[in-house]
Amino acid sequence: MDYFEYRDKELWAEEVRVQALAEEFGTPLYVYSAKTIRRHCRAFIEAMHGMDHLICFSVKANGNLAVLRLLGGLGAGVDIVSGGELYRALQAGIDPGKIVYSGVGKQDHEIREALTAGILMFNVESVAELERIGQLAAEANTVARISLRINPDVDPKTHPYISTGLKKNKFGLDSLEAAGAYLMAQKNAHLDPVGMDCHIGSQLTQIEPFVEAFEKLLAFVDQLKASGIEIRYLDLGGGLGITYDEESPPLPTDLGRAIAEAVKGRQLAIILEPGRAIAGNAGILVTQVLYTKQTSAKKFVIVDAAMNDLVRPSLYHAYHHIGEVHCKEREKSKVDVVGPICESSDFLAQDRLLPAVAAGERLAVFSAGAYGFTMSSQYNARPRAAEVLVDGDRITLARKRETYADLVALEI
Ligand code: LLP
Repeated sequence: MDYFEYRDKELWAEEVRVQALAEEFGTPLYVYSAKTIRRHCRAFIEAMHGMDHLICFSVKANGNLAVLRLLGGLGAGVDIVSGGELYRALQAGIDPGKIVYSGVGKQDHEIREALTAGILMFNVESVAELERIGQLAAEANTVARISLRINPDVDPKTHPYISTGLKKNKFGLDSLEAAGAYLMAQKNAHLDPVGMDCHIGSQLTQIEPFVEAFEKLLAFVDQLKASGIEIRYLDLGGGLGITYDEESPPLPTDLGRAIAEAVKGRQLAIILEPGRAIAGNAGILVTQVLYTKQTSAKKFVIVDAAMNDLVRPSLYHAYHHIGEVHCKEREKSKVDVVGPICESSDFLAQDRLLPAVAAGERLAVFSAGAYGFTMSSQYNARPRAAEVLVDGDRITLARKRETYADLVALEI
């Protein structure tokens, strides 16, 4: 459910015409709906009603400060995976006590920064990392709260590039190794083993893999309790899918119900790290048609957004719905929607049935609010797109369009 809708053949973002945004800010342009972001965040909060919980939005999905501020205002924390994301979160005023830090390759300076900030906990992914955090916490004369990321070896049934909880993936520790690591942490005065976590993958469209994973974790929590280690925070990661095309993923309430059922009777604070489910359908990428081109094999609609702006179709063969910003009655035909980048992998859609759009018209690429701008680059020396946040009829330029000068600003 989102607040992008057609009224009288015109696409609106809440109370603002998308056409007007494109005219004012140019294209390619990311447009986010504050009302949608709020609605999705509240859906998670309500789904966890009655349970001690914390929703930690995954910054990698959308790190724009305006978006993070909005979520922080609703009481959310964040899940970060780098010092840069920590910096963004702190800049946005996120409470450090609501920050969890995941990732297999935390660097010394990043660990120090997180210790200084006083984050809630490090989600630790290896014994070597645990030792390093212990050393750095000792040097800083502090105690690091840690959770161990368990790799539960569960198939999330999603794209292989975004599956993370299988034995063959680089993430987390298996429970045997983790049992030893918890004992090690317990003996270290600079480590406080307060949590356990997992994240099995992204864009999950079924509830069963989640249930399988957290049942394995809960069994492990019970086992640790028997050996004197009390887990307070159970972080179940993110991963809830969204509708890009015809998927019908579980809702936050379905997830909440399954969690409540599984954890019942235990004294645990539950952390969730949703990214896509909050931001994905809260954003669109607006682009302008530059040319149309008919070859002997195909018809192409060449637009001003490219794989540097939205890489998901090229990288995962991901489907994003594409619609007109101003609809007109006309014949439809199958086209490839492609960008100006010099690669055949530069497409936003392939063999897509679209009306016969003409140069100068605008199109909206839907479900682009998560892993859209955050994965963008300057490839082909293309300045990154602007980002706009709409809240009712209020428009905020959340990030200016980069300029040519920005492209070379850091070069000597
Ligand atoms: N927590 C951890 C530790 C993660 O690695 C991720 C995503 C999340 C939470 C949030 O997952 P979500 O709720 O958004 O599914 N670039 C890919 C997605 C990569 C996801 C990586 N990890 C895409 O565009 O589909």
